[in-house]
Amino acid sequence: MVGIGGSVDEGSQSDRVLRAVLSDVTALGGKVEVFSGLDLDLPPYHSGAVLPEPAHDYVAAVRAADALVISSPGYHGTVSGLVKNALDYLEELRTDRRPYLDGRAVGLIAVAGGWQASVGTLGTLRQVVHALRGWPTPLGLAINSRVTTFDERGGTDDDSTRTAVGIMARQVMDFPRR
Ligand SMILES: Cc1cc2nc3c(=O)[nH]c(=O)nc-3n(C[C@H](O)[C@H](O)[C@H](O)COP(=O)(O)O)c2cc1C
Repeated sequence: MVGIGGSVDEGSQSDRVLRAVLSDVTALGGKVEVFSGLDLDLPPYHSGAVLPEPAHDYVAAVRAADALVISSPGYHGTVSGLVKNALDYLEELRTDRRPYLDGRAVGLIAVAGGWQASVGTLGTLRQVVHALRGWPTPLGLAINSRVTTFDERGGTDDDSTRTAVGIMARQVMDFPRR
């Protein structure tokens, strides 16, 4: 399972929610690899150019993954440039036996400082994953970081969001097993 997302900001909530889902995945027996924040500080994707060294592990991990979790902050109403650029690098998987995210379940998380951007960003992530031939899980997480916060250990006092984190972990684990 590969986790992608977060921001470069200290205490990034989109990073913390991503890691909370992945921690539940680990508890369910999944093996996870995370590329978050500065791990994704890659130059703008250029199709056909030599892949920059830091992108090699990232692209290889997605190629090998059975499922993914993607978490974006809402920036100016939509997916952040950092996360979208990371998704653009998946163009490298175009000619694979399983192109792009073909056949893979993808849990989607959007975290913004308001509902409009969190809900809008979740919808956009679904569109991007459909374009990449992935299967967004039925449950997506749209989180307003002014209402719900996660601590550095992935804990939150918002019980319904904590429950939703666990459901997403189960959905991304169930799909590849089926
Ligand atoms: C450049 C930038 C643009 C942002 N735009 C929005 C926005 O349009 N709507 C909103 O609700 N929050 C916006 N935010 C706030 C983030 O969505 C918020 O901090 C959220 O917690 C996700 O970011 P984080 O992972 O760094 O915590 C913006 C933050 C930054 C840095």
